[in-house]
Amino acid sequence: GANLNQKIDYVFKIVLIGDSSVGKSQLLARFSRNEFSLDSKATIGVEFQTRTVVIDHKTVKAQIWDTAGQERYRAVTSAYYRGAVGAMLVYDITKRQSFDHVARWLEELRGHADKNIVIMLVGNKTDLESLRDVSTDDAKEFAQKENLYFMETSALEATNVEPAFITVLTEIY
Ligand code: GTP
Ligand code: MG
Repeated sequence: GANLNQKIDYVFKIVLIGDSSVGKSQLLARFSRNEFSLDSKATIGVEFQTRTVVIDHKTVKAQIWDTAGQERYRAVTSAYYRGAVGAMLVYDITKRQSFDHVARWLEELRGHADKNIVIMLVGNKTDLESLRDVSTDDAKEFAQKENLYFMETSALEATNVEPAFITVLTEIY
C-alpha cells in the first residue's frame, strides 16, 4: 500500500509525444490513476502525473510529462525534453497518418533529448482492431531500424499499458 515516508531512490522524467488524439493523455491516465475517459479533451500546454513503482528493490518515481500533439497548443520544445530519460512515441493503429509522422517526432526528440534516452514506440487503440490501418510488422520493422522498443497498447482496455511504461523505466534503470 501507499507509504507516505517512502524513500525515493530515483526520479525519472518520461515524455509523451505523438500526433493529436492518438491517446497520449489516456495512456497516462491509465498508467498513473487506472482511469480512462472516452471524451478526453485535447491537451493544452503541459500536464504531468507521477507514479511510484518498485523495480529491482529500488523505489522509482516516474514523472510523466504530457503535451499537445497540436502544434498551436504545444509547450516550449526544449523545456519539455530537458532532463527526460525516457520517451513514449505514440501513434494510433487506426490512423496511418499518425504513424507516418513518427519519423518527424523522432527527429525532434533526437534533436532535443539526451542521446541515451530510452524510446518506446507505442501503437495505441488495439481495441479497434477492425479499423486497423498500420500493421504490426510495419511498426516492428521501423522500430528495429531506428533502435526503438515497440509495443501495441489499448488505454481503453488497459492492454500492455503497464508493460510499456515499466519496460521504459526498467531500461533506464
Ligand atoms: P492531444 O492532447 O490533442 O495531443 O491528444 P492525445 O494524444 O492526448 O489523445 P487523448 O488521450 O486525449 O485521446 C484522444 C481520443 O482517443 C479520446 O477520445 C480518447 O478517449 C480516445 N482513446 C485514447 N486511447 C484509446 C484507446 O486505447 N482506444 C480507443 N478506442 N480510444 C482511445
Ligand atoms: Mg493529450
